[in-house]
Amino acid sequence: MLFLLLPLLAVLPGGENADGFKEPVSFRVIQISSFYNHSWERNLGSGWLGDLQTHTWGKNIGTIIFLWPWSRGTFSDEEWMELDSLFRIHFIRFSEAVHRYTSESVFEYPFEMQITAGCEVYSGKLSGSFFRVAYQGSDFISFQNKSCLPSPLAGNAAKRFCKGFYQYQLDKEVIHHLLSDTCPRFLLGLLDAGKAHLQRQVKPEAWLSRGPSPGPGHLLLVCHVSGFYPKPVWVRWMRGEQEQPGTQRGDILPNADGTWYLQATLEVAAGEAANLSCWVKHSSLEGQDIVLYWEHHISMGLIILAVIVPLLLLIVCLALWFRKRCFH
Ligand SMILES: *[C@@H]1O[C@H](CO)[C@@H](O)[C@H](O)[C@H]1NC(C)=O
Ligand SMILES: *[C@@H]1O[C@H](CO)[C@@H](O)[C@H](O)[C@H]1NC(C)=O
Ligand SMILES: *[C@@H]1O[C@H](CO)[C@@H](O)[C@H](O)[C@H]1NC(C)=O
Repeated sequence: MLFLLLPLLAVLPGGENADGFKEPVSFRVIQISSFYNHSWERNLGSGWLGDLQTHTWGKNIGTIIFLWPWSRGTFSDEEWMELDSLFRIHFIRFSEAVHRYTSESVFEYPFEMQITAGCEVYSGKLSGSFFRVAYQGSDFISFQNKSCLPSPLAGNAAKRFCKGFYQYQLDKEVIHHLLSDTCPRFLLGLLDAGKAHLQRQVKPEAWLSRGPSPGPGHLLLVCHVSGFYPKPVWVRWMRGEQEQPGTQRGDILPNADGTWYLQATLEVAAGEAANLSCWVKHSSLEGQDIVLYWEHHISMGLIILAVIVPLLLLIVCLALWFRKRCFH
């Protein structure tokens, strides 16, 4: 009984709200700016609901592009126009300030700056917000409670940047309002507008293959699970009802269509592959677990071979026989 329950518990995500979303849920905007010299830079902007991209900014930070029909959330066109211009002003001012600080040798070309800013909600309420800036991949400054905090490791450069760029109370009020009011309101509206998409259930497909040989006399069994949504999934190699502790689970990787892919591998001695099976549990399967047996996989291969080879021979014979009859 416990054996049956444990995998189920593993499939159910930790905290879940009434709508079935994994909590807390976050929305973040990511900006990546590469500065090559004082006249050449490249900016990329994107918006993310958890690990799903929902927005992008046009080439070199143009206008906001909505990647899903529901990416507008519940905001009106006026609200979007206001946000669009707020972001544009931010991008322009940020880039001007960075170039200015470079001429004051706070930064040195070429370099990269990254910003991540957003909020988290839990049970329909704001549970946290963040605004962090990195220089060359390391923490540079962050924003907390209406103040700019230089990262301790970033030294004087970060202190000067905080003093100069985020000195105005107005800026701080705007950022604070965006993070603590606009962001959670938008996020909750987005979850509502995208409900049908975000709560869909897509069944995985699973198949087995042999991986690159790990050594003489050993096999690497690979169980592929692809096309499932949502992300939580349970995949194990089993012998009968016994979990194989050697199961190696890869990272869950995104498919282009927004579903997920995972592979689980197991290294075994060649003689021990019989009776092994790959088990897949996923919420979309509603308890109808997928179980694939390695020996069936092998014997399926043999069956195909046993059917196809004689068939091919037959076709070749027939072709030869026809040629003889027709051309002589
Ligand atoms: C800035 O960098 C770009 C791209 O590397 C280059 O084409 C351009 O000539 C540079 N401009 C100056 C003023 O160095
Ligand atoms: C933010 O500031 C308020 C008042 O200035 C204070 O009560 C609160 O504890 C601060 N929060 C954090 C996380 O520093
Ligand atoms: C596989 O299972 C069968 C029947 O349950 C058993 O007779 C056989 O010994 C098992 N083979 C291996 C390699 O465990």
